[in-house]
Amino acid sequence: DATVSRPGERDVDPVTPVLTKRWLSPNSWTLETYEQLEGYTALRKALQAHPDQIIELVKASGLRGRGGAGFPAGVKWGFMPKENADGRTARPHYLVINADEGEPGTCKDIPLMMADPHSLVEGVIIACYAMRSHFSAIYVRGEALHCIRRLHAAVREAYDAGYLGEDILGSGFDCDVVVHAGAGAYICGEETALLDSLEGKRGQPRLKPPFPAAAGLYACPTTVNNVETIASVPFIVNGGSDWFRRMGSEKSPGPKIYSISGHVERPGQYEAPLGTTLRQLLELAGGMKDGVPLKFWTPGGSSTPLFTAEHLDVPLDFEGAAEAGSMLGTTAVQVFNETVSVPWAVMKWTQFYEHESCGKCTPCREGTFWLAQVLERMVDGNGTEEDIDTLLDVCDNVLGRSFCALGDGAVSPITSGIKYFREEFLALCRKNAGTNADETAGDPA
Ligand code: NAI
Ligand code: SF4
Repeated sequence: DATVSRPGERDVDPVTPVLTKRWLSPNSWTLETYEQLEGYTALRKALQAHPDQIIELVKASGLRGRGGAGFPAGVKWGFMPKENADGRTARPHYLVINADEGEPGTCKDIPLMMADPHSLVEGVIIACYAMRSHFSAIYVRGEALHCIRRLHAAVREAYDAGYLGEDILGSGFDCDVVVHAGAGAYICGEETALLDSLEGKRGQPRLKPPFPAAAGLYACPTTVNNVETIASVPFIVNGGSDWFRRMGSEKSPGPKIYSISGHVERPGQYEAPLGTTLRQLLELAGGMKDGVPLKFWTPGGSSTPLFTAEHLDVPLDFEGAAEAGSMLGTTAVQVFNETVSVPWAVMKWTQFYEHESCGKCTPCREGTFWLAQVLERMVDGNGTEEDIDTLLDVCDNVLGRSFCALGDGAVSPITSGIKYFREEFLALCRKNAGTNADETAGDPA
């Protein structure tokens, strides 16, 4: 099968058009096109099965969360309450879709929702059916107004066609979906902050545990899944778990959308099996822009430790990235060539985290502020060699001591940047020292 391959089996072109296969069809976002291209056939099939069979299928496929953390989707669904002896579930419970894609460099969910919104809607209905949930909210990043409009239109089409609402396709199953716009805060991509925001509160993370599976939206059991995770479900229902497992690696099966940005010839979204390497992705993206050599890159957005040219052959799956000292994260591959200063790039990311820190806990609120100050001082030409140790010391006080993952993510570019490019930080400070010394020498005072 030319469209399904494990990375390494072929030298070039490991593209696996599964999730993206409809993206280039005319009017791919309409129900009409979607139905012409097998749309809602998986829902019909799923409604014929027992909900537990769908959960078992998703478990068997090995589908893992595509939002960054890689938690097994079927296991998460299995946490939701089942029916009592009278056939009714004891507590209401919900499916919430995290469509608040905000990680720097990550642009896979919004393109997916723009090009193929019905794959998400169909996945939502199947997932709700499997979990015996009758309500789902899709929480979309507020700035993505075009995407919110497109989702609204898709949900409306699905209601009109009888795929949503009461007694879906005569199955007796009821399901409602709402599309909710966030207000553009990065922290609202953290699942518990997202739930607070959805409830109308200020979006700040909650203490975990309890995980949302136990107490989520309105304190009811809630499954929070990423867009790409749920959009994969109709393909699994139609293709089966063995088919899904033919792509990717044993522990990280399936296709993945890699967003490639920066100094490549053709930036964009590239779908490939999990475990594809940067070397292969660069071939798909036309290579380094103008042939200028690679200097550093992020495997999964700025919250994942940086990689260098040494890591071109690291398999980009959950295990491969971790073994090489980073994380798969959101598979936002940001590529930087030799012209980019590492301290400058690290400063820009740190300014982002400082701005987006929600302020709830001291290590992150104060730490990101001071990290940005020190980096700005260095880049502005006023740093000292001791500043490098100061940065690492502050990072040490943020990592593992912050309330949520934002704090840990904020220090990743700094610690990995210094690990691989310490000389560049030192050279910047020495240059500064030289400049300062010259200025002092010329100062009549
Ligand atoms: P996590 O590992 O704490 O949780 C992952 C998921 O599994 C959550 O839904 C959580 O509720 C569930 N879970 C974990 N342990 C559980 C248990 N014992 N019982 C029930 N449920 C359990 O990771 P987190 O903090 O949710 O996400 C961190 C990731 O988010 C990072 O890998 C980062 O790459 C990614 N991220 C993604 C962004 C995006 O724009 N997509 C933005 C920023 C970060
Ligand atoms: Fe807020 Fe940062 Fe603390 Fe997370 S780590 S709760 S974003 S201050």
